[in-house]
Amino acid sequence: MMVDPRQFSSSTEEIPSKENVPVHAAIIMDGNGRWANKRGLPRIAGHRQGLVSVKSVVKRCTDRGVSYLTLFAFSSENWRRPPTEVNLLMELFANALENKARRLHENQVRLRVVGDLSRFSSKIRMLVQRAETLTRDNRRLNLTIAANYGGRWDIQQACAAICGKVASGELPENEVTAATIEAHLSTNFLPEPDLFIRTGGEERISNFLLWQLAYTELYFTDTLWPEFDEAAFDTALVSFAARQRRFGQTGGQVQDSRKINNA
Ligand code: IPE
Ligand code: IPE
Ligand code: MG
Repeated sequence: MMVDPRQFSSSTEEIPSKENVPVHAAIIMDGNGRWANKRGLPRIAGHRQGLVSVKSVVKRCTDRGVSYLTLFAFSSENWRRPPTEVNLLMELFANALENKARRLHENQVRLRVVGDLSRFSSKIRMLVQRAETLTRDNRRLNLTIAANYGGRWDIQQACAAICGKVASGELPENEVTAATIEAHLSTNFLPEPDLFIRTGGEERISNFLLWQLAYTELYFTDTLWPEFDEAAFDTALVSFAARQRRFGQTGGQVQDSRKINNA
C-alpha cells in the first residue's frame, strides 16, 4: 500500500493536532569524527560507532511510538571530504545495507533511501533496492536514510520535474501550488518532521530538509553522535513534548483549540 502524500498537507495550511510524541523525527547525526579524534582513533571508527547509535535510536522510536525516523547519513557536500574517508563511508554504507536489512525487516521496519542515488556505485544502488523491496510492507517504523541528499538538490529536482510537466501541458502553470512542490520532493511519502535533532554541537541545518523543516521544532545537543543513546533520545523527546507549536497562531488560540478538541 502506497502512502498518499496528499494526506500530509503543509503545516502552514492545515494545523496538525498537537501530539506529545513526534510523528516524524529527523536527525543530523554529527560528531563521529570528533568522537574518534578524542580517542586517537581514525575517523572511520567514529562512523562505525555511529551505527550503534542508529540501532539505539531506531529501537527507541519503536518503543516510543515515533512512526517516521529520517537520518542524514551523507550530504551532497560530503563528497568534498578526502577520498579515503569518502571511500570508507561508501564501504560502511554498503556493508550496513547488506548486513542490517534482514534485522530491520525482522523488527518490521520499512527502509527507504532518499537522495541522488545516481552518484553511488551500482552495488550500493542494488543493495538499496533490495533492502527497500524486502521491507516494503513493514509498518512499525518508517526509517528513511538521506544519502547524497541536499535540501537544495531536492527542491531543484522537484522544480525541474514540475517545469517538465508544465512544458508538456500535463500540468497547467496556474495549478502549481505548495502541495505540487511537496508532491515532487523526494520525501513525498513522509509527513513534515515534527522534531529535528542535530548532535555534535553545531547549530546549523547543513542543507538537510530545507523545505520540510519550515515548522519543525529544532533541538541541538553537544552530545556527539556515537554517544547519542536511548536516554539522550528520550531527553530530546521530553524537550519536544514541552513545546507549544503555534504555526503562526497566538498561544491563546492554540490553547483554546486544544480545549475544544479535548472536550
Ligand atoms: C557526521 O560526522 C557523519 C557524516 C557527515 C558522514 P562527521 O564526520 O561530520 O563528524 P565531525 O563533525 O567531523 O566530528
Ligand atoms: C551534516 O554534517 C551531514 C551529515 C551528518 C550527513 P557535516 O559534518 O557534513 O556538516 P557541516 O559540514 O559541519 O556543516
Ligand atoms: Mg560534521
